[in-house]
Amino acid sequence: MRPADSLDDRPGPDSPDSARAPRPRDKMRVVSAPDRNPAIIARDLAKTYGAVEAVRGVSFEVAPGEVVGFLGPNGAGKTTTVRMISCFLPPTAGAASVYGLDVRSRPREVKQMLGICPQEDNLDPDFNVLKNLLVYGRYFGIPGRELRVRAEELLELVQLSDRKKSAIGELSGGMKRRLILARALLNNPRVLILDEPTTGLDPQARHAIWTRIRALRATGVTVLLTTHYMEEAAQLCDRVIVIDNGQVLLEGSPQSLVDQEVGRTVVEAWNFDKAFEEFLRGIPGRIELVGDRLYFYPREADHMERLLNERFPHQERLIRRATLEDVFLKLTGRALRD
Ligand SMILES: Nc1ncnc2c1ncn2[C@@H]1O[C@H](COP(=O)(O)OP(=O)(O)OP(=O)(O)O)[C@@H](O)[C@H]1O
Ligand SMILES: [Mg+2]
Repeated sequence: MRPADSLDDRPGPDSPDSARAPRPRDKMRVVSAPDRNPAIIARDLAKTYGAVEAVRGVSFEVAPGEVVGFLGPNGAGKTTTVRMISCFLPPTAGAASVYGLDVRSRPREVKQMLGICPQEDNLDPDFNVLKNLLVYGRYFGIPGRELRVRAEELLELVQLSDRKKSAIGELSGGMKRRLILARALLNNPRVLILDEPTTGLDPQARHAIWTRIRALRATGVTVLLTTHYMEEAAQLCDRVIVIDNGQVLLEGSPQSLVDQEVGRTVVEAWNFDKAFEEFLRGIPGRIELVGDRLYFYPREADHMERLLNERFPHQERLIRRATLEDVFLKLTGRALRD
């Protein structure tokens, strides 16, 4: 059942009003004269469910053509935030707009510009694969023949061409995900909002989606995505926003966050003794003990390899480059939460 306060979850049909909105299906979007106005603005967005403060004053902007990743642990408020921006959920407080159109007062026009991949499967089980796309496309007023061509092309992209007559119930989890992604691209959106687009996808499908997102970005499409895959965020995003407990913790480019929060190098060790730990504590840097593993983030990484080889040649350990995952775990803690 839908939550009582959710808005209509279908894209708005073509209405006379939409003539005033930016045209979502313009194929020739020229980006030579940069559009200085943000594509997405969120100001102090908040959402409460009874006593639960799911989102507590989130503000950010996304520039046209930028790919921004929303990162945060389970329950951080990512889906709630992107649903408010997608006109699916009215904010309790604050405001959001897409290309200058307020999501509350202009939802139809906003939806015309958006390609949405929700976190949950909301395919229509009464229609087969192809029909799911065709019915969805009609909400956008895409003419029949064009719609058919686009649907077939997108099924090709997500490698479901041979399943177009299949019932939704016959698809695997990853196939459903791929179909939802194809559906999000059907209306040539100016802004893509992807909530965990590649969760459950095999590596081939994930890479195909990444390639498509990069290609779309090159044509000026703006992307706001959430992901739990730090590799995905590092590969795709110009900027990431880390949220936890409904609030923004930090934002920046993936590389700048790695440099600033953890540095270049991480030493991971296991089966170590007190002497090893004490040795590392004498070196400038940060130590973290998690279960049976030790993580050491040295301030100066240049001589770590030589130093460890000399002093603890038999110690089981790994020296590797720091990643966005290390940033995420530093900010949100390594302990499992609900
Ligand atoms: N319809 C609802 N009714 C009550 N509480 C809700 C509802 N939807 C979300 N919440 C709560 O709001 C908080 C944020 O949930 P949200 O789905 O936005 O998290 P998320 O960051 O998307 O997490 P995940 O990574 O697991 O998808 C959680 O505490 C969740 O339990
Ligand atoms: Mg979510």
